[in-house]
Parts: sequence; C-alpha cells; structure tokens
Amino acid sequence: MYYPDETIEEIRSRTDIVAFISSYIDLKRRGANYVGRCPFHSEKTPSFSVNPSRQMYHCFGCGTGGNVFTFAMEYDNLTFPEAVQMLAKRCGVSLPEAEESEESRKQDSIKKRVLDIQNDAGVFYYSVLKSDKDRAGYRYFTGRGLTDDTIRKFGLGYSGKTGGLYRYLKGKGYSDSELNMSGLFSFDERKGARDKFWNRVMFPIMDVNNRVIAFGGRVMGDALPKYLNSPETVVFDKSRNLYGLNYAKKSRSKYFILCEGYMDVIMLHQAGFECACASLGTALTQLQANLIKRYVNQVIISYDSDDAGTKASLRAIPILKNAGLSVKVLDMSPYKDPDEFIKNLGVDEYRNRIDNAENSFYFEISVLERNYDFSDPEQKTVFFNETARRLLVFEDELERSNYTEAIAAKYNIRTDQLKNLVAKQSANIAGIPVSSGKYKRNANDKKEDGIGQAQALLLSWMAGEPGIIEKIKDIISTEDFFEEPYRRLAKLIFSQYENEGTVVPAKILNNFQNAEEQTVVANILSRNIPDDKRDMNEKEKVLNEIVKRIRKQSIDRMTRNVTKLEELQNLMIMRADLQKLHISLQDG
Ligand code: CTP
Ligand code: MN
Repeated sequence: MYYPDETIEEIRSRTDIVAFISSYIDLKRRGANYVGRCPFHSEKTPSFSVNPSRQMYHCFGCGTGGNVFTFAMEYDNLTFPEAVQMLAKRCGVSLPEAEESEESRKQDSIKKRVLDIQNDAGVFYYSVLKSDKDRAGYRYFTGRGLTDDTIRKFGLGYSGKTGGLYRYLKGKGYSDSELNMSGLFSFDERKGARDKFWNRVMFPIMDVNNRVIAFGGRVMGDALPKYLNSPETVVFDKSRNLYGLNYAKKSRSKYFILCEGYMDVIMLHQAGFECACASLGTALTQLQANLIKRYVNQVIISYDSDDAGTKASLRAIPILKNAGLSVKVLDMSPYKDPDEFIKNLGVDEYRNRIDNAENSFYFEISVLERNYDFSDPEQKTVFFNETARRLLVFEDELERSNYTEAIAAKYNIRTDQLKNLVAKQSANIAGIPVSSGKYKRNANDKKEDGIGQAQALLLSWMAGEPGIIEKIKDIISTEDFFEEPYRRLAKLIFSQYENEGTVVPAKILNNFQNAEEQTVVANILSRNIPDDKRDMNEKEKVLNEIVKRIRKQSIDRMTRNVTKLEELQNLMIMRADLQKLHISLQDG
C-alpha cells in the first residue's frame, strides 16, 4: 500500500514525538531531550532518549531509533502502512484511498480467504462436536472436566471419524489452491485432497483479534503424536502468537500466567485465572515475550514440573526479562501441569502457589543447586562460585547487594564471604561486559571504520544544524558519500535543504520504510554533534577535520580508479588544495 509522501509527512509533523512516546512509556525531561527506560530492551538506567527538535528517538543502550512511525512499527509490531494508518487516526488526518499495488492486493485477498477457511473450519469442527451422531469428542472434553461454557468460549471441536471438512469447504466455494494454503489438508496426486485432522478433538488457535488462524488436534487416547498442529501458513506465524492471549489481554490482570499446553490454559480460565496463556510446546520466542510486555509487566511461569518443563523455564526466563518483564516461577509439585494440579488440589491451592511463586533468580539458583552435593566441600565451593557469577547479572549495585544477602541467608553462609566471591568473579570477567540482555539490535555493533564515523557525524550535523550545509555545500557533495546508506542520506539531506531551506531529520526517515533501515539511519542521524555551548574555535576545528577526512578519502578512492594521466593530475591538485582548505564558522 502506498500513501503520498505529503500525507505521510503531514501525519508525522502533526504527531509530536514526545507526546506520542509518552503515551507508551514514562519520559523525563533532561536538558533539551527527554529520557526514559527503553521499551525495546531490558534496562535499569534510562538510556532511551527522545529529541524534540529532531523529532526522533534513539536508545544508547541497544542502538534502536527512529521517528514516530518507527516507534509505532517496533512497539506495536506494525508494518509501515499500518503505522501510517494508526497515526493518521490519532492525529485526525484522513487518508486518501490507498493506492494498492496489484501484488499487495492479491496478498491481502489471499490472507482473507485463508482466514475465512479457518473460521469456517472452526464452525464445522464445533458442529461435529455438538452433533448427536458421534459423541466421542464431546465425551472426551466433558470427561476431562470441561463445561459447555468453556467449550463454547474456546470454540473446541471434533474432526470426527468420517472427516468431511474438505467436502464442506468445497461446498462453500473455496478452490483447491486456497484450501491447500490453509494447512488443513494434504494433497496427493493420486488420492486427491485429504483432511489432515481426523478423529481428533480440535483446539482453534486465535490471534489477539479473536480470529481463528490455526488448529491443534489431540488424539483421544494414547496414540502418537498426541498433538498435531497446523503448519505455518500465510496467516499463522507460530513465533508471534500465544494461545489464550485474546482472552488474557482482557483480563485486566497485572501479570500473565504462562503455561505450556492447550488444556492448561483452558483449565486455568475455567478455574477463574483468565490471565493464562501458552507458548504451545514450542520454545518461547522473543517476539512472544515482547507481545506479552504490551499488556503486563510480570509473568508467572507455570510450565510443567518435569525436567523438560524446568529446562523450558530456564530458557524462557532470560527471554522474558529481556522484554522488560519481571518473572516468577510457580511450583506445581507434585503435579505435572496446571490442569492436573487444579483437578487434584483445587483452585485455592493454585492461587496459593501463585502468591508464593518464586522470583526467577531464586528459581535458577535452586535448579543449579540440584547439580551439587553439599556434603562435598569442593562441590559446595563450586556452587557458591557459580552463584556469585550469576549474581553479576544485576547491574544495579543495590539490587545485587540485596540478592547477595538473601542468597547468603538462604544457604547459611556469611554475606561478606559471598560478596567477596562476587567481587572475585567480577574481576575474572572484567573486560567482558556483563549484561542480561543478549538480544541487542545494535547498529553500532557493526564495526564502523573511521570514514564511516566521519560521514555519519557530518550527516548528523547537517541534519541537526542545517546552517552548516551552506558552509560546506561547495566542498562536499553527494558523491563523496560513496557507500549506502550514507549516500542516499546525503542526497536526501541536500535536496531537502535545497527545496525547503531547512532539514527535518524525522522527515528524512520517512524515506526509509522498513524498521531495520530506519534504525540504521536513525542511528546515523542521532550522533552527538558539537553543541553551541562549545567554543566556536573548537567547533570549527572539528568541522574542518571531518570535512577534510571525508574529502581525502573520496579523492583517494577516485585516484585508485583513474585511467587517464590528466585525471590523475587533477586529483593531485585537488588533494593539495585540500591542505589549504579552511571553513570558517565565524563570518557570514
Ligand atoms: N505439543 C505439541 N505436539 C506434541 C506434544 C505437545 O504440539 N506432540 C504441545 C501442545 O501444545 C501441548 C503442549 O505442547 O498442549 C504441552 O505438551 P504436553 O505437556 O505433552 O501435553 P498437555 O498440554 O499436558 O496435554 P494433555 O493434558 O492433553 O495431555
Ligand atoms: Mn496436561
């Protein structure tokens, strides 16, 4: 979908970035900027900065940045056109009928058809479950303690012994190619189309907007595989959805209960815990964790109590924390999962376990503890050293000290002893930055050579203080920025200055429409430039240095490519002239 540039720019300029981002996170004024805790990575000390004059944001911690569109795209997981639509509504700009490309129109209508198929299939499975002909599915669910209300709420169904979904959907006018894309059938040259789900009880998977996007089907006995799930399709991306999230998000709970399975979520909801959702057997992804963070700040993990569940919890903890969530782990012993727990010990006892859920750090340490035999002094020492090393994840001094004390008390050793171990561990890994956040999209990570740095700084300077363009435009041109994205940026900045007499960095960003590119470009445009408080002489010196460096590099590059002697001579002259160059900021 394409919107005219002027419309995009109108929406951007009408949306004040400070007000907009403030509606998502707390910002405090600091000097000319506003700062807060970055919503895109986990941190204690604010390194997320919003610059009102540039109308851009930038995180010095994880390197992400951009304008209001980028923020909406990243925070709400939107495409560029979706971000434009959302902000248009917010600031009251009416969008023209979008010029849709043939390709995207086709893609949209395919998605719509596949969604319709999922919906119709859900209706079909539900009616089979409720039909009088074959009660096996219905008996299975009620046998597991589900009420009619619960069955309806989750749209549970039954695929039946005779199948019939294919015929049903054909009767509704879907083509074979559409049905093929739904993931509900297998197509065979000889045998034709066959229902993938057969004689299984069916769990429709819904997205946050209550649309059915896929199915899970369970055998009613002990056959394998126990569960069969839809493959990924144009409407089903496993890594971006959580089972039950459509209801959990409406629960108004301060935390979500995260479990493993369909039946866990359903049982918990029936028991009144409407904040339960599940990652469905797959390893929790960062996208899922970020999705959770949109609704709550805390997660209580209620994964299975077996070895696999414990491992899965240990893997999920850093991912959840990285999304900025605080994490607790619920102890379900002696039962395997929430479903079995509630059946055996009841709702009140589960609530009790929620109240006593262990902070995820203690959970990690108590899992660690199982590997050591404390009657052996050597093993005990190794355990405390490992614990000390893990205490280093707390970057905040006070927090680390609190945990150190608590752990020392729990394991009956002196606090100062444990503190010494922590100090020792910290010395051991000095030089290696200690950080809990592994998922960092830092554009600065890519080693930038000196020339890249000089170009980035000059571009940021031109965008932030367009007055200097006047001083350099006869010396530096777009051609001197010989790599992308510097060249494209230079071109945009020069032309905006020429056409409008000024430069609006956030507007430049409109030209980059995927979040990845926007982050890279925002990073370049967020370089600190010498501010006005600085001594004019010094500022002048810095500017001259950068300009000369960029020009020299550019001339050297041309020198390597010359074919005629005459050109070479010209370049030599240019290089010599460069020595004499001086840009003055004081006059005119
Ligand atoms: N799962 C799956 N495929 C399998 C086994 C499990 O997709 N072959 C997923 C399902 O989403 C399931 C979750 O992993 O709900 C947890 O698996 P498990 O603990 O084995 O099943 P339960 O949820 O306990 O299912 P039930 O109570 O029906 O036995
Ligand atoms: Mn179970």
